[in-house]
Amino acid sequence: PEAITIQELANRMAERAVDIIKFLMKQGEMHTINDVIDADTAQLVAEEMGHKVKRVSESDVVEGLSGDTDAPEQLKARPPVVTIMGHVDHGKTSLLDALRKTNVVSGEAGGITQHIGAYQVETPNGIVTFIDTPGHEAFTSMRARGAKATDIVVLVVAADDGVMPQTVEAINHARAADVPIIVAINKIDKPAANPVRVRNELLKYEIVVESMGGDTLEVEVSALKGTNLDKLLDVILLQSEVLDLKANPDREAGGMVVEAQLDKGRGPVATVLVQRGTLKLGDIFVAGSAWGRVRALVNDKGVQVKEASPSTPVEVLGLNSAPEAGDQFDVVPNEARAREVTEYRERKRRETRGAASARSSLEQMMSAI
Ligand code: GTP
Ligand code: MG
Repeated sequence: PEAITIQELANRMAERAVDIIKFLMKQGEMHTINDVIDADTAQLVAEEMGHKVKRVSESDVVEGLSGDTDAPEQLKARPPVVTIMGHVDHGKTSLLDALRKTNVVSGEAGGITQHIGAYQVETPNGIVTFIDTPGHEAFTSMRARGAKATDIVVLVVAADDGVMPQTVEAINHARAADVPIIVAINKIDKPAANPVRVRNELLKYEIVVESMGGDTLEVEVSALKGTNLDKLLDVILLQSEVLDLKANPDREAGGMVVEAQLDKGRGPVATVLVQRGTLKLGDIFVAGSAWGRVRALVNDKGVQVKEASPSTPVEVLGLNSAPEAGDQFDVVPNEARAREVTEYRERKRRETRGAASARSSLEQMMSAI
């Protein structure tokens, strides 16, 4: 339900909050400045104080963004987006690293993935887009987002450790997002490796792998020794063929923010995953409550590119602030539209914060009594 704090309403009308409180008092309602009132009451107050009211709903403002209006003949095949998930230290980053033959692990603080990275791997049979997620328990929401942006989840389970809490959590995220799982049993080079135990443990979570008569694809791998990596890529491409993944590249781009930060030299930088359309230099776009004009696009190899098509992860420069990971991004026709959307979202965010702080101060008051 739409609601607003008295302070926010006063700000928007450029009136004093105390006058609103007085007005409500005359109606027989006692309020303080941080109280939240519903939209109907707010409208009444505003009109009584001589303001014209235009109620704007989320759907009015963000309508047309990411609309799924593509005709079947506009759709073209796109690479699968694969999220690597699993328990802490089961070898997700090492596996991705081995797959793209570079070395992310050694560059990470303490070898723990700090945030989601996104990369593409080219194989003779097609391109695969990978998203890495951290296994640490503090990053549940990142894994949930990763699962949502993805076509396939590769569930990494260390053969010497077996199914662990974040393994189970990843299974649940994949199920909630209705995404097929491919099991990668990793670290099979280790003397203590016991892949049979992993398969048996997965049964408890209703994952029945092929070798046990089920239909979940599985591959035994060693990220360290590079064992069966080709096989894993083949299985991913096989699964993706079944999914028949398509998107319309000939439209304004939209997708998801994978990560974003304020870079010392380059300003706000967002890594986005293009999910539809083609993102181009000069495009005006909104990402959460940030917006900007695309000044530069940098691909996962650090090379500047002119555009990014569906399923491509790319770094975007030119935003006015850093959006949040998980935010939606959409190209819009002009700056006015970008301002409208971001101002609306920013206001929403303030209102939610206002409501939350009003609640907590009430709680404080109650507990003080
Ligand atoms: P988080 O991001 O912290 O959740 O960890 P992760 O799953 O990305 O694991 P990471 O790739 O950082 O690997 C953890 C440790 O396992 C590292 O010391 C790796 O060298 C080791 N490791 C990963 N894969 C293998 C493997 O196939 N065999 C062996 N023996 N060790 C491996
Ligand atoms: Mg990692």
